[in-house]
Amino acid sequence: MLDKKIEEILNKQIAIEGQASYKYLALASWCDNKGFAGAAKFLFEHSDEERMHMMKLLNYVIDKGGKVVVPAVEQPRSDFKNIKEVFEYAYDGEQQVTAAINEIVSLSLKLNDHTTNNFIQWYVNEQLEEENLYRQILDRIELIGEGGNALYLIDLEIDKLSKGAGGMAVIPE
Ligand code: FEO
Repeated sequence: MLDKKIEEILNKQIAIEGQASYKYLALASWCDNKGFAGAAKFLFEHSDEERMHMMKLLNYVIDKGGKVVVPAVEQPRSDFKNIKEVFEYAYDGEQQVTAAINEIVSLSLKLNDHTTNNFIQWYVNEQLEEENLYRQILDRIELIGEGGNALYLIDLEIDKLSKGAGGMAVIPE
């Protein structure tokens, strides 16, 4: 049985991951609308991943006999100045998700809930990968700069990171 405080914080995380999935839909749609087909594909895939993150938490709460509260979804931000701002916004969001995951780690340790602590470690690793991924994309955007073909090249670079629907996007070395 789940401690009520753990049930509450996991439900909060279900809402955060669900909101992230919608946020990536908005980012992907902005990219598609501006002709960044590669970035749109990458971000639509990422939206699917966030839904998977939400479902993994939801199933854990159910498996532990807890009560899931399916969250309301806020309308995500949909206006951006440029592609760089889109990925800065994504990176900022991932850092906020990491902070929320760390709160779950701390609470599970405080309550001696080693099962939840073990479960949430998957998210600790996932956040490390996601923060790295978005930081590297921002580095590449910075590196490519703003010359004649820059936007086209940025889109190509991000397209290379797509691995098919639901796949993990990893920066190749
Ligand atoms: Fe599920 Fe990107 O955090």
